[in-house]
Amino acid sequence: LNNGLARTPQMGWNSWNFFACNINETVIKETADALVSSGLADLGYIHVNIDDCWSNLLRDSKGQLVPHPETFPSGIKLLADYVHSKGLKLGIYSDAGVFTCQVRPGSLFHEVDDADIFASWGVDYLKYDNCFNLGIKPIKRYPPMRDALNATGRSIFYSLCEWGVDDPALWAKEVGNSWRTTDDINDTWASMTTIADLNNKWAAYAGPGGWNDPDMLEIGNGGMTYEEYRGHFSIWALMKAPLLIGCDVRNMTAETFEILSNKEVIAVNQDPLGVQGRKIQANGEDDCQQVWSGPLSGDRMVVALWNRCSEPATITASWDMIGLESTISVSVRDLWQHKDVTENASGSFEAQVDAHDCHMYVLTPQTVSHSDV
Ligand code: GLA
Repeated sequence: LNNGLARTPQMGWNSWNFFACNINETVIKETADALVSSGLADLGYIHVNIDDCWSNLLRDSKGQLVPHPETFPSGIKLLADYVHSKGLKLGIYSDAGVFTCQVRPGSLFHEVDDADIFASWGVDYLKYDNCFNLGIKPIKRYPPMRDALNATGRSIFYSLCEWGVDDPALWAKEVGNSWRTTDDINDTWASMTTIADLNNKWAAYAGPGGWNDPDMLEIGNGGMTYEEYRGHFSIWALMKAPLLIGCDVRNMTAETFEILSNKEVIAVNQDPLGVQGRKIQANGEDDCQQVWSGPLSGDRMVVALWNRCSEPATITASWDMIGLESTISVSVRDLWQHKDVTENASGSFEAQVDAHDCHMYVLTPQTVSHSDV
């Protein structure tokens, strides 16, 4: 969406994956505090996004949305002020239907009122869900909220959450700043890998202003191993997915923090070229030995060697496969070991990757062919 936002994928935190409906204003404030004190905010995680269940069960007598009086007694405006005072942005959630998925009031046919009230509270981001939609097509229900947000005059990031219904990659670039491409993720290896493959299909449609969204991160929620979470983060970064943390950042382990704070992987996600990397090779049983790659600014490339097999494997990335000229030599930097592993690779490089682990590299050309000079 051409509203000046999302030049690179959004980064931040969202309440749903860990807290579900167990949210309140204290959790949101403490999360904002933790993002700042941990250093994650400085790394780019600036959106603090409240998901479903923030609102009261009914609109007020004037038909306006109201925050739940027990869990958000101070109201959203004061919460936004607090989050802004920390240098962060506040996100909220509604639904392009008559109710949200947890049966709070939805915004269908209330787009102008609700956009106005969000803007008046100082909200910076709207996630817009798809439950109770009366069977009306997404392409009819999502543009009215875009227009209403735009008409407020406030800069509000617009995140479509219609679960990939009617292939939003094909039409949502003019509607939102990101669009979910799949059903909800859950904190398992099977869900995460399935979603990665589904999102991969739409790579050609992502770019500055509008990103494919394979759903929020599960890193730190306990259902996957350290290696699996490292793959989750690597592939989400490479796919230019939103990096929305979904764990309790007030109580992160050192391993969780290490993954989420990997500056070199974040830099791949936030690279100004803004091209979604993709799966370019899959070998072995069930195609489990995978190479994912994509272009980065400065003629560099990112390559991930993702071993989805249950045994260690040697995975090779050849220049031919990733689209590098055969004459080019590159230096290879390992983004998880944080070191240059090869000064001068030509033709291909390979690595032994443990079961369910993922290596990630940046390739920088050493010599440029001037054959046409
Ligand atoms: C849907 C969305 C989720 C989350 C829940 C909240 O399932 O896809 O991301 O927002 O609703 O109820």
